[in-house]
Amino acid sequence: MEERRDTLRRHAQALIAALLSLATGSAAAPKVESALDFTGAEIRAILRHGAWPASWTPDPSNRASGNPEAVEFGERLFFEPRLSPSGKVLCATCHAPFRGWQDSRARALGLVETDRNTPSLFNVRYNRWFGWDGAGDSLWAQSIRPILDPREMGGGQVQAAALVRADPEYACRYEKVFGAPPPASDEALLAGIGKALAAFQETLVAGRAPFDDFRDALEKGDRAAAARYPMAAQRGLRIFVGTGNCASCHFGPNFSNGEFHDTGVPFFVAGGGVDRGRHGGIRKLQANPFNLLGRHNDDKTGKSATKTRHVSLEHRNFGEFKVPSLRNVARTAPYMHNGSLATLADVVRHYSELSPHRVHSDGEILLKPLRLSAGESADLVAFLESLTETASALPPRRPALPCL
Ligand code: HEC
Ligand code: HEC
Repeated sequence: MEERRDTLRRHAQALIAALLSLATGSAAAPKVESALDFTGAEIRAILRHGAWPASWTPDPSNRASGNPEAVEFGERLFFEPRLSPSGKVLCATCHAPFRGWQDSRARALGLVETDRNTPSLFNVRYNRWFGWDGAGDSLWAQSIRPILDPREMGGGQVQAAALVRADPEYACRYEKVFGAPPPASDEALLAGIGKALAAFQETLVAGRAPFDDFRDALEKGDRAAAARYPMAAQRGLRIFVGTGNCASCHFGPNFSNGEFHDTGVPFFVAGGGVDRGRHGGIRKLQANPFNLLGRHNDDKTGKSATKTRHVSLEHRNFGEFKVPSLRNVARTAPYMHNGSLATLADVVRHYSELSPHRVHSDGEILLKPLRLSAGESADLVAFLESLTETASALPPRRPALPCL
C-alpha cells in the first residue's frame, strides 16, 4: 500500500517536473534521474542530520568556555610535553592535528599501550558524555584524565599545578582567563588547566561535507544541487536512514545520539581481562572529584549536573560503548573502542554479518545482521566517506604573542 502510494507520488512528481521544464523552457535543466526520489519520510529523516555546523552554546560548567584567552592558553597546554614528567607525551601525541586529532593506531600508546582506541577530537563540544565509557561528564573533566593516567601521560596534580605556577607565561595566562593568579589549591588549579584545555578543544569543529550540501539542497527542494551528490552516496544514505537502521544511534547533526550501546564488538582485552565499557565508566564517573556534582562545576544553578545525578548503574551497561560521531570518519581509521576494525568496509561488514548472540542489551532490538550485497556495502561506505569535510573549518592560528 505504502509502496503504491510512493509510486503514485513519484509519477506525480515526474509529471510536475516535466510540466515545469516545459513552462520555463529550460531544456538544459539537469537530469532528474541524477537524484534518487527520496520519500517524504526519508527526506525528514535525512534533514535531521543537519544543519551543519550545528548551533552551540558555551558550557555553563566551565567559566572559561568560549573565552578567546582560554582558547589560547588551552592550545599551549595541549602541545605542552611538561604535563608529563617524562617530557615525552603531550595531548597531541595521541590527538595529532594532521591525523584528524587521533593517532591512526588501533590502541593508544602513551608511556605504555592502553586498551582503547584514541577518538578524534572533532566536534567534542557537542558531546554529552566523554570517553568510550562516558567516565567524563564534561569536556574539562575529561581533559584532566590523561594527565593523571599512568599509562598515558603519567603526571600528577601537584606537578601539573607547580608547572603553571612556576612558568611566568602560564601564570600570566591563567590570571587573564580566571581573573586571579593561580590558586594555592592544586586541585582547583588542575580544574583550571582542564577548563582551558576544553576551551581550546571546543574550537575543533569539522567543516562542511558533501552530505551537508545534499541535505541543504533537499531542504530547499533544489534538485540541481542535490544531483551533484554521488549516486552511490545517495543509495548508501537511503540504507543508513532506512533498512540499515544506522540513524537510530548515529543520529542528528553530529551523527550520534550521545548514548551507549552494545554493537557486538568483543570486549576482551590483552592479558585476559574485559573492558566493562559503560558499566566501568559510571563507577569512574561517580568516584571522580572533578565530576559535575563536585565543587569545580562553575554552573551554580546545578542544572548541568542533572544528567550526572540521575545516572544509575545497570547490568545492561556492561559492554556498552559510546556512539561515536561519524563526521570525518573516513579520516580516523582504525575503528571501534579497541581499534579492532581497520577500514570502513570492515565496519560495514561487521554490521552486515553481525552475530545476534554477541549483542545483548538494547542493541538486540536495534541491530540485526543486515546481510548487505557487495554493491550495498560499497554504497554505505561511499555514504560514510561523504561525511568528510571538503575544507577545514578551524580558525586560522593567530601568531603566538607572549602574554606578559
Ligand atoms: C596516550 C594517548 C593519549 C593522550 C596522551 C591523550 N589522550 Fe585523549 N584520549 C585517548 C584515549 C585512548 C581516549 C579514550 C579514553 C576512554 O575511552 O576512556 C581519549 C579520549 C579523549 C577525549 C574524549 C573524546 C570523546 O569523544 O569522548 C578527550 C576530550 C581527550 N581525550 C582529550 C585529551 C587531552 C586534552 C589530552 C592532553 C591533556 C589528551 N586527551 C591526551 C588517548 C590519549
Ligand atoms: C545500536 C546502536 C547502533 C547502530 C544501530 C549502529 N551503530 Fe555504529 N556504532 C555504535 C556504537 C556504540 C559504536 C562504537 C562501538 C564500539 O566501539 O565498541 C559504533 C561505531 C561505528 C563506527 C566506527 C566509528 C569510529 O570512529 O570508530 C562506524 C563507522 C559506524 N558505527 C557506522 C554505523 C553504520 C553504517 C550503521 C548501520 C549499518 C551503524 N553504525 C549502526 C552504535 C550503533
